[in-house]
Amino acid sequence: MSDLFDPIRIGRMDLPNRLFMAPMTRSRSHGGVPGGIVAEYYAQRATAGLIITEGTQPSVRGQGYTDTPGLHSAEQIEGWKRVTDAVHERGGHIFAQIMHSGRVGHPSLYPDGGLPVGPSAISSGASMYDGKQALPHPVPREMDSSDIAEALDDFASAARNAVTAGFDGVEVHGANGYLIEQFLSDGSNQRTDEYGGSAENRARFAVEVVDAVVDAIGADRTGLRVSPENTFNGISQSDPLEQYLALLDGLRHHSGLAYLHLTESGSAEYTQRLRKEWRGTFVLNTASGTDLGPVTRALAEERADAVAVGASWIANPDLPARIRAGGPFATGDRATYYGGDHRGYTDYPALDA
Ligand SMILES: Cc1cc2nc3c(=O)[nH]c(=O)nc-3n(C[C@H](O)[C@H](O)[C@H](O)COP(=O)(O)O)c2cc1C
Repeated sequence: MSDLFDPIRIGRMDLPNRLFMAPMTRSRSHGGVPGGIVAEYYAQRATAGLIITEGTQPSVRGQGYTDTPGLHSAEQIEGWKRVTDAVHERGGHIFAQIMHSGRVGHPSLYPDGGLPVGPSAISSGASMYDGKQALPHPVPREMDSSDIAEALDDFASAARNAVTAGFDGVEVHGANGYLIEQFLSDGSNQRTDEYGGSAENRARFAVEVVDAVVDAIGADRTGLRVSPENTFNGISQSDPLEQYLALLDGLRHHSGLAYLHLTESGSAEYTQRLRKEWRGTFVLNTASGTDLGPVTRALAEERADAVAVGASWIANPDLPARIRAGGPFATGDRATYYGGDHRGYTDYPALDA
């Protein structure tokens, strides 16, 4: 039986607790460069067992939203260096989430005004909110083999840049309807080459991304996030269990990946079936909002080795201390989740402030 406050070793890191901060896009990195305010935000949350940053684009085409940070330019690496230094100074640990958003993008985000890319020319049916209006995602351009090779290189170079920027590792974003999940899902992937047509083929891109990142920075610094049964961003999957078993099968040649991070959007039985197939560290996000009961129980019942929570960290920068003290817990203002300034971002006080 584990407890939130039991230490855990992941890769090269000895983490003081099992309560991780789940990745959360906050859209405050103008020009893709995280500034001082982003460093302050993450440093305030350094008592998380592990911070997983917001989704960070590995390339210009990988961006899906306004003012999200990147890991593909010298300026962005410098910006992140300030973040990782600030977190490490407070004794914390931090992974960068690398997120290529694929078809969940918009021409207004790219200097060339071109189309977003995806496994097939099928739109998400969703929209991007640019701070003023909702812009429908267009039909993406279907990736050819050179686009796929380029995306793999971009993931690898973003991982190397993350290490240069002082990150302890990276989480490959294979969840929530972005590029990797677009390949994994038969609703968005109707390819007839070796990347589509069967569960094994649909898993190929995800496996190749993990291979590329592992080659770049090592398995012990590479985590992967997945979301079987997700329907966000227009995702549909006829047989999630078959698909994710095929993915785990494809990853079997990697021993010692930092972790598999599963965000649950369907049945807990699936989660446990996949956990059984995964021999490494298993991180669970139960998506239970500010109710911490489900994550506490998941650890107590050994359904996960560590848990990641999102929303609770927004207004409770010292979440572990509050849990130890039995509360109180603050509630975040949803109007300031995405974009804006320090308000609703770095101005939530710690209990002892
Ligand atoms: C403001 C906000 C931004 C998010 N951005 C990301 C993201 O960049 N990458 C990701 O994988 N998940 C993202 N998520 C999903 C969270 O990581 C998490 O799975 C979700 O909030 C459910 O967990 P919770 O109930 O503990 O908040 C985001 C969630 C929120 C609330």
